[in-house]
Amino acid sequence: MIIAVDGPAASGKGTLAAGLAAHYRLPHLDTGLLYRAVGRAAQGHEGTPEFETRAIAAAQQLDAGDLDPEFLTTRRTGDLASKVAVIAGVRQALFDLQRDFALQAGGAVLDGRDIGTKICPDADVKLFIVADAKARMERRARQFEARGQRVDRDALYSQIEERDARDRNNPHGGFYPASDAHLLDTTQLDIEAALRAAVAIVDGAMARKAKH
Ligand code: DC
Repeated sequence: MIIAVDGPAASGKGTLAAGLAAHYRLPHLDTGLLYRAVGRAAQGHEGTPEFETRAIAAAQQLDAGDLDPEFLTTRRTGDLASKVAVIAGVRQALFDLQRDFALQAGGAVLDGRDIGTKICPDADVKLFIVADAKARMERRARQFEARGQRVDRDALYSQIEERDARDRNNPHGGFYPASDAHLLDTTQLDIEAALRAAVAIVDGAMARKAKH
């Protein structure tokens, strides 16, 4: 079974995808980490032609087994990731890696922006997670505060809106709900309630599939 989980920054899609993977005993790939690692490799070259060259080279050489979420989940890498994500050569280089992960025996859970539209248009179940931008900002703020970092909420909110706009308008992005995606709004849900809702969607979709 392949489960695709897409959604905007800080929508809870990563936590949900990890929860679904544990529930169904499937391997999980957070595809945002791939873009973050590529962004990190091109850091310091923004605004120069080298930014693109370095990003494409890093995407071609990326080792998906060597991604450290703690190190890569910072505001700076999120921003860099969405900048390298608009480079067609980067998306192309990361395509096979994601596709191979999805097609491993037994299936997988992948989360990102374009899993249901571009990477796995054939996924068994597609979830598109949405949440109000203020709620997303607050979740991200608490995540950083839990690590002992100080957070300027207004700046964080602007950064989330800016990243949403760049991701939505990415001409190579595929960041929109697939026509067969199930929308899940997590604004009012805590993680347990969101996971229960996601499991109900997956179980329902698989039961309908089994009937046909
Ligand atoms: O999910 P995230 O916030 O870690 O993703 C970081 C950036 O990477 C995001 O702003 C856009 C890009 N991204 C993408 O374009 N396609 C994906 N499948 C995953 C992430």
